[in-house]
Amino acid sequence: MAARDPESKCVIKFPDGVYCGSKVRLQGNIPPNAQRFSINLQCGPRTDFQEQVALHVNPRFNDMNVVRNHYAGGEWGREENSGGMPLSKDADFKTVIECNEQAFTVSFNGKHFCEFAHRMPYHRVTHVMVDGDVSLRLVSFPSTE
Ligand code: GAL
Repeated sequence: MAARDPESKCVIKFPDGVYCGSKVRLQGNIPPNAQRFSINLQCGPRTDFQEQVALHVNPRFNDMNVVRNHYAGGEWGREENSGGMPLSKDADFKTVIECNEQAFTVSFNGKHFCEFAHRMPYHRVTHVMVDGDVSLRLVSFPSTE
């Protein structure tokens, strides 16, 4: 079983906060035995799911889908999970999440994957936290200019 190693968590502050047009780009590698990982745009720095999460993007290789949700008041919201599994185990990947007025848009490996309509004000997001079976090489915040 793939270990859920707490050391593999990574949290990074959005340098300029989150606004319409903000982007975060993550590049890394998915190990051959990956079961799941998540990318969380959250309102604070904690890595133990004690913060509100405006967007949880959760590739699940056992279910072959990517669950999206938000977390607030100690509870998960309604899952969105259409679109199948665009990622492969034992491979590099790249994802870009962009904030626009209505939604976050998520792309994998240069291809649009989904939108997630905002469920809480996006300007409250301060950090991106990555958890689970993935090794990150680069997290960057491409500017819109
Ligand atoms: C739960 C899972 C959480 C999160 C959530 C998303 O079942 O335990 O880690 O992925 O689903 O809805």
